Order: sequence, then structure tokens, then C-alpha cells
Amino acid sequence: MKVGFYQYAPHFGDIQRNVDEVVSRLESIDGDLLVLPELAMSGYQFSSAEEVANLAESVPDGLTTRRLVELAKQRHCYIVAGLPEHHAGKFYNSAVLVGPLGFIGLYRKVHLFFEETLFFSPGDLGFQVWDIGQCHIGVLICFDWYYPEAARTLALKGADVLCHPSNLVLPHCPDAMVTRCLENRVFSITANRIGEEARSGKSPLRFIGKSEIISSTGTILHRAADDQSELTFVDIEPLQARDKRINPYNDLLQDRRPQNYA
Ligand code: ACM
Repeated sequence: MKVGFYQYAPHFGDIQRNVDEVVSRLESIDGDLLVLPELAMSGYQFSSAEEVANLAESVPDGLTTRRLVELAKQRHCYIVAGLPEHHAGKFYNSAVLVGPLGFIGLYRKVHLFFEETLFFSPGDLGFQVWDIGQCHIGVLICFDWYYPEAARTLALKGADVLCHPSNLVLPHCPDAMVTRCLENRVFSITANRIGEEARSGKSPLRFIGKSEIISSTGTILHRAADDQSELTFVDIEPLQARDKRINPYNDLLQDRRPQNYA
């Protein structure tokens, strides 16, 4: 299975331009599953609730989801991408999953980071797993990595591959995802962005790039640079994630002792 990410810097606030540029860059991709960053078409550093309201999209009928559905149909692939979502008077930092047959599913970021807490409601859809034929996938968004329970929940629900749209600013996540994969025996695809935003006099945010694909045994199969756009696919055997045996005596998930964990 060919899985990949596209790392780039969106132009803040210009959804139409970002969608056009991203879709044009991806028009000849040849892969099975592609992950794009968090807030992939809007940019990240919102300065007001009005700005969020103007840039948030409905799912699945908003521009970003519609264009990604078209692309997934044309390229016969699955795509996970982040976007600000408005639904029933609330705003969420969300990610959509689309595929060759259209819109499939939605995840709303559970663990909001920093000023996201001013503008978004915490996700209310839980952690879901989708069967995309070649494997089962789950979605985390950026700061969700900080909570091992999130990746563990997806592993316990049968995810083979964690799709992880991100806008990382802290340095720790690329190495920490190795541990998330080791402790769950799952693959991960972190799609981060690059560049800087310093909006309305706010402190600049520098996004750390280093998008990466990690195997279910914790090998970094590919890690991008911290400042370059990059579109990369890697071949994986996703069903290796179903083998949770570490040695003849230990099965990672069966050996859990939840009665001790409270
Ligand atoms: C983050 O959650 N965007 C750091």
C-alpha cells in the first residue's frame, strides 16, 4: 500500500487559492492514502472569532471537501485533510476522510492546543476507525499526539494506520510519534506544514515541518525536512499492524492490565 503526505505552507485565509494550488500539485499522484496538514486550506493563526466564522466550512458540501472528493475520485485514492468546520452554530478543528466513492467521514479534534481553545469547540465525535479496503485507519489531529489515550483508543478499535494532519510548533512530536507507534504497533502518517504565521501582532508561530511515516515497529520510514515543501509516498504492509506479538510471551494489547490503570 502506498501511503504519503504533502507538506507545504498554505496562504492564510485564501481557501480558494490554497485548494487550487494543492489540487494542482496533486493532480497526478499515484498512491492509495494521502494525508494533508491540519487546517490545510485556511491557515492556522486565527486572530478573531469572525475570522474563524468566515473561513470555516460545512462538511461535506464546503469547497475543500468537494474539491478533495473530486481529486480522490480521479486518482482512486483516499485523502485525509484538516479544515475549520462549522456545524450547528459551533466551530471545530476537523479533518475529513474522502475516497474514490466520495465523502466518508469526519473527525473533530478532541485536544485543542493553545489559542485554538478560544475559537473551537472540543471534538464531540470520539475516535473512529474506518475500513478503507486495504486497512483500517483512524485520525488524530496534531496536539492529540500529546495524549497517549487517543492513539491507544484507535489501536484498541482496530486502526492499522494513524493519519495525523498537523500544524506542529513544538519540537517533540516527530520523535514522540515513534513511541505512539511502538506502544500500539500501528503505522502513522504525520502531515505537518512549514512556514511562519505572525498575524495581527501575535507572536510568530514557526511550523516545524518534519512530516513523517513511521512503521508499526517504530522505524522512521521517511522524515521530511523542516523548511521544504514535499510530497512523498512510501510502500507499507499495513496488515503488519495486526500482529501485536512482541515476542513469544507478549502480545501488546492482550497483555494490558486495565484494572491497574485507574
Ligand atoms: C497543534 O495542535 N496545532 C500544535
